[in-house]
Amino acid sequence: MSENTVQELGLNLDALRVAIQEEYGAVALNPQQGFHFHTGRPLAQMLGYRDPWLEGIPETSIESFAGTGNPFSIDEIGAGEQVVDVACGAGIDSLIAAKMVGPNGRVIGVDMTPAMLEKARRSAAEAQFTNVEFREGYAESLPVPDGWADVVISNGALNLMPDKTAALKEMARVLKPGGRLQIGDLIVQKAVPTSAKQKIELWTGCIAGAVLETELYATVIKAGFVGFEITWRDPVFDGAPQQSSAANFGTLGINFRARKAVHPAEWDAALEALPSAELAEADSVSILGADAFYDAGDKGCADGPLDEIAALLHRLEPGQTLEVRAIEPSVATDLPAWCRLAKHELVTHEGDHYLIRRK
Ligand SMILES: C[S@@+](CC[C@H](N)C(=O)[O-])C[C@H]1O[C@@H](n2cnc3c(N)ncnc32)[C@H](O)[C@@H]1O
Repeated sequence: MSENTVQELGLNLDALRVAIQEEYGAVALNPQQGFHFHTGRPLAQMLGYRDPWLEGIPETSIESFAGTGNPFSIDEIGAGEQVVDVACGAGIDSLIAAKMVGPNGRVIGVDMTPAMLEKARRSAAEAQFTNVEFREGYAESLPVPDGWADVVISNGALNLMPDKTAALKEMARVLKPGGRLQIGDLIVQKAVPTSAKQKIELWTGCIAGAVLETELYATVIKAGFVGFEITWRDPVFDGAPQQSSAANFGTLGINFRARKAVHPAEWDAALEALPSAELAEADSVSILGADAFYDAGDKGCADGPLDEIAALLHRLEPGQTLEVRAIEPSVATDLPAWCRLAKHELVTHEGDHYLIRRK
C-alpha cells in the first residue's frame, strides 16, 4: 500500500483513527462483549501462547488480548534485549517480553487508544514490572529514539494502518542495524476492492486494511528490511462470536519475520529480488480475483516478465492462482508454452488478463 493510500482512497485518517479507538476501547472496557475476532485467554491458547509465558501476567491484560499471531513463536527474545511493542493494546505482549528480557532489558509499548494504555499500565504496576513502560503515540511516528531496539514486535495492528510504509519505516528507524521484526498480522488471499477499502467499518473489522502476501512482502522490503518470511498462517477469525466478511477474502492470521538491513548492498539485493513494483497496485486493477496479481504492463518477454511470474508463483501455495495482466503480444504468445513447460496450469484468459494456477 503506497504512502498516498489515505489520499487515494479519500479516507479521513482522523475519522478512521477515532473508529479504531472506539472499537479497541470496547475491547479494553468490555472484553466479554463478543467481537468479530477472538479475544482473551482462549485466543492466546489458539495462537500457541505457552502457559509459562502467561504466568504472572495480570488478567486485566490477558482478557483484552486481541492479537492475530504470536511474535514469540517466530524467534526467541533474549535476556538484556530492548523491545518495542507497536500498538501494544492492553499490554500482554509487552509484559511477556518484559519477562523474557529480564532486569537488564527494557520494553516500550506504544498505542494510540487511552483505554488500552490505561489497562497496560495498571497491569505493569500490579505485577511490579519495572523494565516496561507504555507510551501514547502512533505507529507512524513512534515515541522511541533511533536505533534503540533489538527487536520490534507487533500483533494484530499493522492491518489497521492505511500507511503501512510509514509504520514499517518507523519500525526500521527505531531498530538497530540487523534488528529483528517479529510480527503477528493478517493477509488476504483475495485482493480487497477499492470500494471496500473506502468503508471505515471494514477497516475496524480488520479486513479493508489487510493486503495480499505479495504486497506485504514488497512493502516490508521497501521500508528497509531483508529476509522477509511468513512462518505461520491460520484462519484466525473462524468461529469468532460475531460474523464478518473475513472469509470472503480468505483472511489469514500470519506471523512474519524480517531483519533491518545492515549494509546498503544487502538491502539493494533484497530490493532487486522483488518481483515488481506494480504488485502494490494489485487491488485496483485485478479483474479475475486471483490470490495474487502481477501487471507486466507493456513489457515484452525479453524484458523479464516470465522471470517475475515464476518468482511470484514460487511464493504462492500449490493450487493458488496468479492473475497476470500483459498487453505486449510476445507475452500472449509465450505464456501458454511457458506454463506447459513449467507445469503450471493456464486456467483462463480474459482480454489481456491471464489466470495461472501454481503447480
Ligand atoms: C487488534 S488490537 C491488538 C492489540 C495488542 N497488540 C494485542 O495483541 O492484544 C490493535 C491495537 O492497535 C492499536 N492501533 C491501531 N492503529 C494504531 C496506530 N496507527 N498507532 C498506534 N496504535 C494503533 C489500537 O489502539 C489497538 O490497541
